[in-house]
Amino acid sequence: MILYRNGMRFIMFYFLLVLPSMAWSEMKAISQIEVLMMSCYTCHGQNAKGSGKVPSLHDIDLTDIIETMNDFKTGHEKSTIMGPYAKAYSDQEIEALANFIKNPKD
Ligand code: HEC
Repeated sequence: MILYRNGMRFIMFYFLLVLPSMAWSEMKAISQIEVLMMSCYTCHGQNAKGSGKVPSLHDIDLTDIIETMNDFKTGHEKSTIMGPYAKAYSDQEIEALANFIKNPKD
């Protein structure tokens, strides 16, 4: 019973103090575009600097990132993974991602 009470107290503490402060810091630290970029990082490495055989996204310029993503979508650019993957992103998202890759602080 004592354990149970402490457990409840902990849960209350968590919901009243920890969660809101976490939500607040997340809101300040992570923008929407960074959330989108995180999925790119899983393959393209930390900050999209390349990882194993997956290329860095810093070696191609902004318009090439956008064009290549669109060519992945249409199949004009051959790919193993990016074809179906690129289709999940709208033109606006692709443009925003390309801008973020080139100017991460904007
Ligand atoms: C599941 C792994 C994976 C994810 C997730 C992923 N990529 Fe890729 N990406 C690849 C691979 C592998 C290639 C090489 C082409 C191929 O085989 O598909 C590639 C190639 C690219 C290229 C072409 C690079 C070049 O120099 O030709 C671009 C641009 C690119 N990815 C952008 C992105 C963006 C933007 C995201 C996030 C929205 C992303 N990728 C997410 C695996 C991934």
